[in-house]
Amino acid sequence: MIGLAAALAAWPLAAQHEKDGEKPKNPAIGDPKAIAAGQTLFANGCAACHGNEGQGGRGPNLRERVFWHPLEDDTLFAAIKKGVGGGMPGANLPDYQTWQVVAFVRSMTSPAIENPPPGDVKAGEGLFWGKGTCSNCHAIAGKGSAFGPDLANVAAMRPALDIRQSIVDPDADGAPGYRGMTVVMNDGSTLKGVARNRTNYSLQLQDAKGNLHLLPVASIREITTRKGSPMPKDFGTRLSKTEIDNLVAYLGRQSARPSAVKK
Ligand code: HEC
Ligand code: HEC
Repeated sequence: MIGLAAALAAWPLAAQHEKDGEKPKNPAIGDPKAIAAGQTLFANGCAACHGNEGQGGRGPNLRERVFWHPLEDDTLFAAIKKGVGGGMPGANLPDYQTWQVVAFVRSMTSPAIENPPPGDVKAGEGLFWGKGTCSNCHAIAGKGSAFGPDLANVAAMRPALDIRQSIVDPDADGAPGYRGMTVVMNDGSTLKGVARNRTNYSLQLQDAKGNLHLLPVASIREITTRKGSPMPKDFGTRLSKTEIDNLVAYLGRQSARPSAVKK
């Protein structure tokens, strides 16, 4: 939690910037601790209508909405303070907590690298390359396996909540081009993997070890395409919540370009 004193002390600074004609930059934006605090506030005061992860309910889906028309931080702040239309009451929160909620809402909709998710990055890195078995299928910075998508830039592409969802519920998103398939050859042998390339004459299949197999279509007896993601579906139960937080914290910092937010 951001200390109350620290948050209050930051305010005269913000006011100063405004006087200088700059846009006030709130200290909560992009601050992992403030985002975590904002998430708790969101769960208590907003989730009943907008869903725990902003997916919508009585209130609109906040994640998709903001993708098409990103709401400015100031607009969000005002919406939360004053309420929206007839359906949403204003939240009775002090300013610094309102900003924490803004920081969390923003973290749901903008790339993770701009809102570094909370967690133990080192521990997440250890899991990724070790017990978590992630590197059996994923590469970062040229290391690991090329079976699944390369994650070296995942934090620049996707919000932290999406990264989390990819881990605990891989079928929900599904990166295109990664449908798994089982191929039975005419000689009865079976191969599993993802299709990389397919022509009228051949199928290029990549197995879980990253090896490529060029299979002549004439020698294939049967192809079964798996529904959903080839990624294991049980990470949500196999790993603890803290372990998943740590993985998201690690992946949420994988970006080809450094963050514009200096934190
Ligand atoms: C009682 C249900 C309810 C609660 C609680 C609630 N909202 Fe809403 N919210 C709504 C409804 C309904 C709308 C749409 C109102 C309209 O457009 O007239 C809305 C609109 C919004 C919008 C504007 C979305 C857009 O597309 O412009 C934002 C942002 C938002 N809510 C965030 C929050 C946050 C953050 C909280 C918690 C502090 C919260 N809401 C609490 C029901 C709720
Ligand atoms: C058996 C192989 C396999 C393992 C093990 C595996 N993944 Fe995946 N993963 C995939 C494949 C294939 C995809 C692409 C299909 C999809 O989106 O589900 C994927 C997708 C993802 C994505 C979405 C990437 C994007 O660009 O949208 C993330 C994030 C991810 N995996 C993280 C992890 C983490 C973290 C672990 C370890 C806890 C892990 N994966 C373990 C195969 C695997």
